Amino acid sequence: MAQENVVRFTSPSNIALIKYWGKYGRQYPRNASISLTLDQAYSDTSVEYVEREVAGESVSIDFYFEDKANAAFEQKLKKFLNSILDEVSFLRTHHLTIRSSNSFPHSAGIASSASAMSAMAMCLCQIENTIGEPYASPEALLQKASYLARLGSGSACRSVYPIAAVWGEHSAIAAASNDYAIPYGEHLHEVFQSYKNDILIVSRKEKKVSSTQGHALMENNVYAASRYAQAEERMTRLLAAMKAGDLETFGEIVEGEALSLHAMMMAANDPFILLQPNTLEVLARVKDFRSESKVPLYFSLDAGPNPHLLYPADYTSQVKHFIADDLQGLCHDNMVIADHVGKGPKQFS
Ligand code: DP6
Repeated sequence: MAQENVVRFTSPSNIALIKYWGKYGRQYPRNASISLTLDQAYSDTSVEYVEREVAGESVSIDFYFEDKANAAFEQKLKKFLNSILDEVSFLRTHHLTIRSSNSFPHSAGIASSASAMSAMAMCLCQIENTIGEPYASPEALLQKASYLARLGSGSACRSVYPIAAVWGEHSAIAAASNDYAIPYGEHLHEVFQSYKNDILIVSRKEKKVSSTQGHALMENNVYAASRYAQAEERMTRLLAAMKAGDLETFGEIVEGEALSLHAMMMAANDPFILLQPNTLEVLARVKDFRSESKVPLYFSLDAGPNPHLLYPADYTSQVKHFIADDLQGLCHDNMVIADHVGKGPKQFS
């Protein structure tokens, strides 16, 4: 029988098409971003809550990652939870036992903060809904979860919605906010509702520069202002292309964003390179394959060396052969994670 005082959610990672890179204040983005919500790459988090004898001024938690105590992750999580005591009142009154794991292999070079923080935020909001004042609507709960997830890791706020999400104020989207992401899937052409995203694991090494350090380096990057203007302008064009199902414009902008992100890293005052030789080889082969086959296959990158390949589901078999024949050998242990656009967090208890 399910325990009454446990809440469990899975929540997926997401791939940004317009990148969030640069932030200020309490985790506010310098520009608006849009992402596709993934499906197979997710975190699975459960939170057991028990009332404390005396309320405290900081959180009281036990944390297990993949069933083992993990001091480094526990410290990170404590810091986050202590920063939201005023937003989530039961954190002062309840002891939490948190267990989390990822569907993808640990240190596969895939960012897990988006899935982990969004799963955590969903659990917190569901507990509030049960032991506190219930939320006015399911949408209100998701908005608060997105808000809390943002405070944990900016990109995590986009993972709470199915299909696609937009985070950050933008001239073309009246409802967009810097505080939380909004769902955006229903505004997109149907081709994107089942879009594919295969992740080529070129390297499993932990990155030398974290995303948080990378964002900070944008503050005195000489190109920062033009980068934010570029993101604003590309967002307008990308939204129109994604509404119309114009895959050529979509791909041109998405690839441009991936390269701009890494260009910002290389142009920082304290420059760094996250791309690997095999990353560049994959990108070149994708371009050649596209021009020869006319398959609308485009790449993206997040803050790491592992290319994401984006394409419509109708081309699955052609792309599968291309990856097996020409790309898999460039990956660490031939590792490829086949993913696709998904429905967002799922509740299990
Ligand atoms: C390149 O959300 O990981 O993936 O807010 O400091 O936790 P923090 O950073 P994070 O940055 C993600 C950067 C990105 C682009 C994106 O997802 O939009």
